[in-house]
Amino acid sequence: MTSRPISAREATVTSAFDEVGAHYDRLTGMSPGYADQLLFSARLLVDRLRRRPGPEDAPLRIADLGCGSGASTQALLIALVESGCPFRIEGIDGSAGMLAQARAKRWPESVTFRHAQAEELGVEEHPPGDTSDLAAGAAGDGGGYDGVFAAYLVRNVPDADAFCGHVHRMLRPGGVFVVHDYGVAGRPLDVAAWTALCWGVIIPSSLVVARKPGLFRYLWRSVLDFDSDERLRRRLLDAGFTDVGQRPVPGWQRGMVRATWGRRP
Ligand SMILES: C[S@@+](CC[C@H](N)C(=O)[O-])C[C@H]1O[C@@H](n2cnc3c(N)ncnc32)[C@H](O)[C@@H]1O
Repeated sequence: MTSRPISAREATVTSAFDEVGAHYDRLTGMSPGYADQLLFSARLLVDRLRRRPGPEDAPLRIADLGCGSGASTQALLIALVESGCPFRIEGIDGSAGMLAQARAKRWPESVTFRHAQAEELGVEEHPPGDTSDLAAGAAGDGGGYDGVFAAYLVRNVPDADAFCGHVHRMLRPGGVFVVHDYGVAGRPLDVAAWTALCWGVIIPSSLVVARKPGLFRYLWRSVLDFDSDERLRRRLLDAGFTDVGQRPVPGWQRGMVRATWGRRP
């Protein structure tokens, strides 16, 4: 019997991540530069934060949506420590298996984790111009973030437009959203390189390490189907973000991984 291919359009993909959680770090560890690439994008986010709290101010509030086993959280932690600002990071993921891996690592008190679907987090509305520290300090379930990082997530949510709108509402005015993800659509050479990488390295490795190649076949397809650079920028603009920009992430996968950002006005 063949199981149905994984599809983010039909249902959340987080249960598929549950099955590989225990192996995820080993698999990403086989990708040279995975951590450095996340750090590049985390620094982009931190560099764009307008609020620079001092020691007595409400800390920066940063969400790492789809934090997985914590690799992106670690990148944010490094970038925020470098900033010298007080901060809190909330790693949020819909997969209990991935979160268990993240929670098993050592973290400072400023880092917490939460099990939730990213698109279902509550939001607190902030009127334009509301830049009060109160909003950040007192924010509850999902509102008032200074920054939202989504590394390898947007491709996986059921409705990317709705999700981007949701992140917009999660941010306080001036807050920054950074999407770190693969993107090859519209560039035939990168499409070919991505397919060669998946079928030559990633899918065979996942078979050996996790014995669950289904998620990695889905990774291949989902990246092929994901937004072109222009489409992703447009998505952020349509969701209401301004100062939208994009940069290829340096490293051996240059041309395949990009950082895209926008600001809630
Ligand atoms: C490819 S992993 C990336 C993990 C981490 N950000 C990193 O950079 O290593 C994608 C993560 O997103 C989570 N995820 C996928 N869809 C989600 C959703 N709708 N809500 C919350 N988490 C989700 C998965 O469980 C998985 O842990």
